[in-house]
Amino acid sequence: MVDQLIPSRRAFDGQDPIFKLNAEAQAMASQGQPVVNATVGALLDDAGKLVVLEPVMELYGQLTGHEVAPYAPIAGDVVYLSTLARRHWPELNGYGVGCATPGGTGALALSLKNLLEPGMSLLTAAPFWGPYATLAQENGVKLRTVPYPEPGKRLDVATWKGTAQVLLEQQGRLLLWLNDPCHNPTGRSLAREDRRALLQALRELAPLGPITLLLDFAYLDYARDKAAVAEALADYRAFGEEGTVLVAASLSLSKALTLYGARAGALVFPWCKDEALQAALSISCRGTYSNCARAPMSLLLRLEKDPAAQAKLAAQQAHWAEVLRQRAEALDTALRAEGMEGAPWEGGFFVTLTVEEPFAVCERLKAHGVFVVPMPEGLRVGICGMKAADAGRFAKALKASLRDLRVPLFPLGNPALSGSLVSRGDITQR
Ligand SMILES: Cc1ncc(COP(=O)(O)O)c(C=O)c1O
Repeated sequence: MVDQLIPSRRAFDGQDPIFKLNAEAQAMASQGQPVVNATVGALLDDAGKLVVLEPVMELYGQLTGHEVAPYAPIAGDVVYLSTLARRHWPELNGYGVGCATPGGTGALALSLKNLLEPGMSLLTAAPFWGPYATLAQENGVKLRTVPYPEPGKRLDVATWKGTAQVLLEQQGRLLLWLNDPCHNPTGRSLAREDRRALLQALRELAPLGPITLLLDFAYLDYARDKAAVAEALADYRAFGEEGTVLVAASLSLSKALTLYGARAGALVFPWCKDEALQAALSISCRGTYSNCARAPMSLLLRLEKDPAAQAKLAAQQAHWAEVLRQRAEALDTALRAEGMEGAPWEGGFFVTLTVEEPFAVCERLKAHGVFVVPMPEGLRVGICGMKAADAGRFAKALKASLRDLRVPLFPLGNPALSGSLVSRGDITQR
């Protein structure tokens, strides 16, 4: 290790745990062994090939040099920002305050830099997308969590409100990252009553200090029920318009257009006009990466002017949402057939299987050629990369691994009750 590396930066192993597991799965597959790789969050077809949305790529191919080469404005092209915001809330006139960011990750990072002082705590639900912890660490803040509801159970509003209140009292401000709807890693969304109860709790806490609710939208185009997504967006819009709490959104083209590598996103505050906030965001951009890639901004502008491409894109997204639904249902059915709890899914690229000793289970699964991401709360299964035909093999491998480790098959409680706890009817109504 070079002495130049400062002591506080010496303890990393340098590898993202998800990409590390993916590399292990690929190494096993390259030796000709049959592998189920449910680690990475990229959409793969049933042959294991990365899904690329053709209408998007056609537009990319049409970009001229002048749509690719110039610097974008430091805070991002304003039409790009409005267009991206309007993909979520079509009735918006503009994006309010905001800036372009390298993917949603960039938006999350800038929210920490501008909405919390170093040493303060960010609040989010657990389980969460692993890089949340890295983002917090890299931006000098701590991560506090509240529990995401178990399948079929209500949100523990009292705990969420109590934790938020403690943070407000300790640090005088609150930043809540909420990945809803289509949560990574549970694949579920908050029930409307829970969402409304949470918003009411935030309203009641607002007199204690400035609160920001940041909506982390990554997977909305891949939902079981589009109407439920629209309903969630309408609730958030009404709450944002009210202005009691500052509502922000982290937006991204990564999953929406399968443009992961383009690194295009935005941090927007659609119901805010604050010039100081806009200035701070612009300075953050300048002092972090200057400006974002021009090409994906130009692409979104072309897409906006091309109804035929939009229609083709919508059809392809609907197709892949249906593939994800089928994969989730195949997994749910296979798990139940093996006598385990199912895998409820409402949207996005993952489901979470609640198991005890998830890290040991994950290791055991590898011996069966099955790769998932362990989290303290269970196993994250990337149905984005796992075809429906592998569900049976997955369920058998999981059952064998749990048995080997003497881990209960029903961590959520009485097996007789588990069917009703996660009943399909309850899930689809959300
Ligand atoms: C919950 C969540 N938020 C944000 C992101 C950010 O993705 P990107 O930076 O590629 O837009 C992801 C990507 O996997 C995610 O799962």
